[in-house]
Amino acid sequence: MAAAVQANLSRPFETLILGSRRLVHPWRSARIRCSAAASPRRSYSITLLPGDGIGPEVVSVAKDVLSLVGSLQGIEFRFREVPVGGAALDSTGVPLPDETLAAAKESDAVLLGAIGGYKWDANEKHLKPETGLLQLRAGLGVFANLRPATVLPQLVDSSTLKKEVAEGVDIMVVRELTGGIYFGKPRGFGSNDRGEDIGFNTEVYSASEIDRIARVAFEVARKRHGKLCSVDKANVLEASMLWRKRVNGLASEFPDVELSHMYVDNAAMQLIRNPKQFDTIVTNNIFGDILSDEASMLTGSIGMLPSASIGDLGPGLFEPIHGSAPDIAGQDKANPLATVLSAAMLLRYGLGEEEAAKRIEAAVINTLNRGFRTGDIFSGGTTLVGCKQMGEEVLRSVEAGKQVAALH
Ligand code: IPM
Ligand code: MG
Repeated sequence: MAAAVQANLSRPFETLILGSRRLVHPWRSARIRCSAAASPRRSYSITLLPGDGIGPEVVSVAKDVLSLVGSLQGIEFRFREVPVGGAALDSTGVPLPDETLAAAKESDAVLLGAIGGYKWDANEKHLKPETGLLQLRAGLGVFANLRPATVLPQLVDSSTLKKEVAEGVDIMVVRELTGGIYFGKPRGFGSNDRGEDIGFNTEVYSASEIDRIARVAFEVARKRHGKLCSVDKANVLEASMLWRKRVNGLASEFPDVELSHMYVDNAAMQLIRNPKQFDTIVTNNIFGDILSDEASMLTGSIGMLPSASIGDLGPGLFEPIHGSAPDIAGQDKANPLATVLSAAMLLRYGLGEEEAAKRIEAAVINTLNRGFRTGDIFSGGTTLVGCKQMGEEVLRSVEAGKQVAALH
């Protein structure tokens, strides 16, 4: 009976990422095979970037969960903690020290907490914590950012939308992460011909940048429910016109995927009006930034949502979608589940350790089923806990999952 419950409870997270089938990453498989084949007792190096605000609290929980699951699965993790963001600014004077990028590149996967805080808000651009994060993404070449937004039955009441609108929502936003207006040149400050100050940026995409993110998105959609909606602003922007043309050009390679296009303003509206119409969304860097925050709110709390950023080669970067929440930092109030679930994505997408990933996801569901909630997802009749206790409960659920598995 307990085993049946466990099996059922782990399902939402399988569908969270992939629908019912597992995603095979053609662009990652070589690396995964190498590390898995090296020794029967697998060993991986993980770079931990706790960062700022609540980052250290949530990363510490995820680290403990990874260690426990690793010990149950015969996997050894070697952790190395290095500074990024405001923490790095304070200790080294730059938001992404060379040593941090080097450590990240050398490892098998990178787990990041969050960056930023009031203290550094007024810094010049090259000394902002956010600049460190962008440099890290670019340095690792992680162009594909997978951001799932799934409404869990346990948390449907946390959504601000009506239950019938929110229930069953299961969306994957595939955001382009290393191009577009975030990185485009020219950019800067100057003055116009009237001598007035101006600030300017460039939204630019090359055909190959569009093709590679679109291919990832088609693959993801194919392994989920076979629907891909490409979001752009092709009625106004040239970069979007090329985007739409290239995405259309790839469609014939994926005849099993139903492709549609939507302008970003309409997509923002449709996400609230009828989110269940979406399966997989692919979009550029800035629209993806905005729409993934919007999609996350359908689920009730941004504190629950993980993300994976993956490139062609090298380690992936795994981080919760939420920010550093300086208002609650150090108060043991943060929800660590988004980071714990990011660790599960790290295992699945970064290391190919599917079983270990499922173990974590099942433990999170089990913890929610036992009624534990941090403040952001609290509702009447549940038990309010802090970040640390939530972590302890997840560890307990991992242990309980082990016993359930042993019964079988
Ligand atoms: C995100 C964040 C970042 C972004 C910031 C912190 C630079 O909002 O990961 O969504 O804009 O990409
Ligand atoms: Mg954002």
